[in-house]
Amino acid sequence: MARRVHTPGSAADFLPARKTLPALRAAAAGCRGCDLYRRGTQTVFGEGSPRPRVMMIGEQPGHEEDLAGHPFVGPAGRLLDRALAAASIAREDVYVTNVVKHFKWEPRGKRRIHAKPNQMEIAACLPWLEAELEVVEPDAVVCLGATAAQALLGPRFRVTKQRGQWVRAPLAERVLATVHPSAILRAPDDEARHREFDRFVADLVRVRAVLG
Ligand code: URA
Ligand code: SF4
Repeated sequence: MARRVHTPGSAADFLPARKTLPALRAAAAGCRGCDLYRRGTQTVFGEGSPRPRVMMIGEQPGHEEDLAGHPFVGPAGRLLDRALAAASIAREDVYVTNVVKHFKWEPRGKRRIHAKPNQMEIAACLPWLEAELEVVEPDAVVCLGATAAQALLGPRFRVTKQRGQWVRAPLAERVLATVHPSAILRAPDDEARHREFDRFVADLVRVRAVLG
């Protein structure tokens, strides 16, 4: 058999034998499944209720998350918290995580600017998300933005066309995709930002409705 010169790695090489949240988190801290571990400060694993009613999935940790080691603690996380409160979803019922667990960034002056993870990095990191879904068994999954939606629902899924609809995914029975909170923060003016925030809350109200 021909010897492979280069075998692309994956988080699968780092999965613990026994899957529990603490074991997964500990193993993910040492993940070198793709090159992003070199760029980020630390792995930012999912957090929240161990038996959540809702799992919310973002793209990747941002600057603040990378430094803190916790998901959704920066500006996007604060917006998400406000939207959850407006939709009457208790923060304690939610588990938040990301498709990619290391912050991918590029320097701009002294700042670290978000860079989009590529398909290889997304595929490499997916075993962590699959394991999280398997272990925490959420009643519903919310994909925040296209990266999360396409990771669960396939590359042809379009958030612009299918946002706010319940769909089935191979990894979860009840999935709803909506925009990423960062997209709301990037709205061109206050009026657009308020309108987008209200639409986001409306999607979360649909999530709240199926939780009983
Ligand atoms: N954006 C994300 O997608 N995830 C985070 O954890 C923070 C910002
Ligand atoms: Fe591992 Fe994911 Fe970090 Fe890549 S981004 S090193 S696969 S945890």
